[in-house]
Amino acid sequence: MEALGALGALGAGAALLLGLYALLYYYLGVATRCRNAVSLRGKTVLITGGNAGIGKATAVNLARRGARVVLACRDKARGESAVYDIRRESGNSEVILMILDLGSLNSVRAFAQSFLESEPRLDILINNAGVLKDGQTSDGFDQAFQVNHLAHFLLTHLLLDRLKRCAPSRIVILSSSAHMYGKIDFRTFNKPTKCLIKGGQSYANSKLANMLHARELAKRLEGTNVTCYAVHPGIVKTEIARSYPWWSLWLVWFVRLFIRNSEAGAQTSIYCATEEGIERLSGRYFVDCRAKVPSPQACDDQLAKKLWEFSERLLGLTS
Ligand SMILES: NC(=O)c1ccc[n+]([C@@H]2O[C@H](COP(=O)([O-])OP(=O)(O)OC[C@H]3O[C@@H](n4cnc5c(N)ncnc54)[C@H](OP(=O)(O)O)[C@@H]3O)[C@@H](O)[C@H]2O)c1
Repeated sequence: MEALGALGALGAGAALLLGLYALLYYYLGVATRCRNAVSLRGKTVLITGGNAGIGKATAVNLARRGARVVLACRDKARGESAVYDIRRESGNSEVILMILDLGSLNSVRAFAQSFLESEPRLDILINNAGVLKDGQTSDGFDQAFQVNHLAHFLLTHLLLDRLKRCAPSRIVILSSSAHMYGKIDFRTFNKPTKCLIKGGQSYANSKLANMLHARELAKRLEGTNVTCYAVHPGIVKTEIARSYPWWSLWLVWFVRLFIRNSEAGAQTSIYCATEEGIERLSGRYFVDCRAKVPSPQACDDQLAKKLWEFSERLLGLTS
């Protein structure tokens, strides 16, 4: 009798745990969706790093809405395979690949030139590509600093006139809640890091830079009908931590039970790219399809302006 009672209690405990897990999974992965059905027929969307993870899921959704989607990817084979998948999943054949390596500023300039020559429109720019790794780019900058912030800053600058000409238009910048741990020290911020732990700090710094970029950009774009938004996609099952050895990810393996897939992780990017009536929230931070207050550093207007001028100087954009 006692054994039966114990078994029953065990069963009830297991059912409760399963129920809690299902609730948590639903809350983290499914509950927050972009629910609008806005059509993007006639619009052109450019997504950096659209061949994998959140970028690819975003591309499928925007292609389903009828947009012409340009994937800006660094690897031809991976890019072509993604174009094939996205066309098949969306039923839209207007998905094309253009090569862009954000680890090379020359590649960014060459990409922008051929994009402007071949594509008459740009309605939505999604600065999505990102790395979480240490090391140096071919331009001598820290990987995360350049790929996540500086190269996207340059790309946005080079495409801004086209976005203005196609207004109302939007820029979506993938940041992260990791921006809360970011610090911007202008003496060291752009210098390459040499170990993965420091690479983690660089990642957080670059994500703070994404937040500040969106903030200052929104200010400078006032009155143009071009708006911009910074996004945290949630914690999403992607390849972002691919540089880390498997054994260092043991904690993430446990967390993987609860994290979102790329389709769920793409919802806030899709929302910021398509939702009508959010223009007055330009420059703000969005999480789970809602505007959220970011860390105090990310609201520092002086720091945002200083970072803008610092980035311009590094890129030789000042006259
Ligand atoms: N996953 C998360 O939990 C999470 C959380 C917060 C924020 N985010 C942000 O979400 C964005 C998308 O990340 P993800 O999670 O989808 O990661 P992912 O699966 O690793 O995808 C990253 C994309 O960026 C591209 N990329 C990397 N370096 C590049 C370069 N030098 N030039 C051009 N493209 C490059 C990758 O291309 P290859 O395939 O060629 O490498 C890939 O397409 C990132 O900005 C990330 O910081 C992610």
